[in-house]
Amino acid sequence: SPVKVTKICCIGAGYVGGPTCAVVALKCPHITVTIVDLNQSRIDAWNSPDFKLPIYEPGLEDVVRQTRGRNLFFSTDVDKGIEEADLIFVSVNTPTKKSGIGAGFAADLNYVELATRRIADVAKSSKIVVEKSTVPCRTADAMRTILDANSKPNCRFDILSNPEFLAEGTAINDLLKPDRVLIGSLQTPQGIDACNSLASIYANWVPKDRILTVGLWSSELSKLAANAMLAQRISSVNALSAICEATGANIDEVAHAIGFDSRIGPKFLKASVGFGGSCFQKDILNLVYLSESCHLPEVAAYWRQVVEMNDYQKRRFSTRVVDTLFKTITGKRIAVLGFAFKADTGDTRESAAITLIRDFQQEKALINIYDPQVPHEQIWADLAEASPDIPLAATQKQVTICASAIEACKNAEAVVIATEWKEFCDIDWESVYAHMKKPAFIFDGRIIVDADRLRKIGFKVTVIGRAEAL
Ligand code: UDX
Ligand code: UDX
Ligand code: ADP
Repeated sequence: SPVKVTKICCIGAGYVGGPTCAVVALKCPHITVTIVDLNQSRIDAWNSPDFKLPIYEPGLEDVVRQTRGRNLFFSTDVDKGIEEADLIFVSVNTPTKKSGIGAGFAADLNYVELATRRIADVAKSSKIVVEKSTVPCRTADAMRTILDANSKPNCRFDILSNPEFLAEGTAINDLLKPDRVLIGSLQTPQGIDACNSLASIYANWVPKDRILTVGLWSSELSKLAANAMLAQRISSVNALSAICEATGANIDEVAHAIGFDSRIGPKFLKASVGFGGSCFQKDILNLVYLSESCHLPEVAAYWRQVVEMNDYQKRRFSTRVVDTLFKTITGKRIAVLGFAFKADTGDTRESAAITLIRDFQQEKALINIYDPQVPHEQIWADLAEASPDIPLAATQKQVTICASAIEACKNAEAVVIATEWKEFCDIDWESVYAHMKKPAFIFDGRIIVDADRLRKIGFKVTVIGRAEAL
């Protein structure tokens, strides 16, 4: 019969593990939740007395304030966390491999494997081990093999897959009111028991009909499939935005019109300068790799095109900027508003802004950057990684990080909106215009400005998915 879980350990205190387990602690006061991580400074930040948490996520601080020290704990003592827990979430990072077989496509499972081996070494009693990180299909199988081969007598390990569907910026709301919770298990009596143990945790706040239980492999594939289909929607709408720019149709009108079809639906149809984030590209490339491993090259090519369209969209946008500025931006000052991959997060992984700025650097522009959340060190690190051939000192001559949008726009020839931060909708454009070089250009990569109003002020405005105004 299902184990009643009273102690949970989460390995990995990142964007997924942190918010997820904080909400579990909030909703399950009878369960002690310990989040462990090898990264001391990350754990220190989670424990900081003034709640300067390592990730920015609306509503997160409030949840941590209610739970930390009550039934939520953060620690670097991974072994103790494992030993004491009935159930362990594995929420470590799974970046795309940078070298070796499948480099650039396959997931690097080294962190998952190390965490799994740690569990096998340390555990003295039976555990339910839950794979939370997004992983390629059949990872659970690999985890099971490692655990079975290394476990002590009287130690049983049941493996579950429980992918997380939260989006950054809305993580707390997504966790409190998930569209669904997905749990995959072996369809054996033990597997189903373990699945029920986990389901009964979620049942503390999620309606039963939203807790879906499926086989392990279906669960693992569903996560990749969901992200691939979401990313595909954006690449589809971005492909249409290129047609709009060429023909004079307006992508917002087109998206609005197609979204009324209940089979299509209105959400996630916003054309943009390109999708970013730690998941979409990585998961699609995983799917591509999986398809190729299954000898399905046509399927691989189909999904690969979603990423290629996204690269094209970013390239198309920076080319449009250069072309509009009379085909050269050498020595011109460009203000880039937004550096995070979307609004309401400080996360920059795969952010389109990084690619745009790299392109502008190569064209020898001067660049001012403003983002309300991204730490400056993160911006420098991302720019260095994007242009390994440019020394940091040179980048720091070419790029300035500014304290406000207004400051970033001062003396610029062009403003590029890369992230849809709400505060960029409320900018005092008259004052920005007064302090810019003329003609003053705005390039809206997120379709957030009122182009007609800005044109009345005097700006030359270019918007994704719209032809140039004559
Ligand atoms: C995504 C999935 O939404 C989530 O379910 C999964 O668990 C993790 O990956 P996330 O990457 O945090 O979440 O953010 P999301 O809101 O999906 O946005 C991803 C990217 O797509 C962002 O760069 C965003 O700006 C872009 N986007 C999104 C668009 O360009 N247009 C849209 O209509 C929606
Ligand atoms: C379609 C559009 O739905 C309609 O809005 C448009 O005006 C004309 O084109 P139709 O071709 O009549 O309508 O039928 P539809 O129900 O869309 O099915 C098209 C094809 O897709 C059929 O062969 C159907 O069997 C197939 N299909 C549909 C699937 O294979 N899977 C599905 O989930 C849905
Ligand atoms: P995600 O977005 O998937 O949550 P993050 O990179 O934000 O990814 O978080 C993953 C965390 O997992 C990192 O803080 C990393 O230090 C931690 N981690 C990786 N491997 C281990 C391990 N073996 N034991 C404990 N923590 C780990």
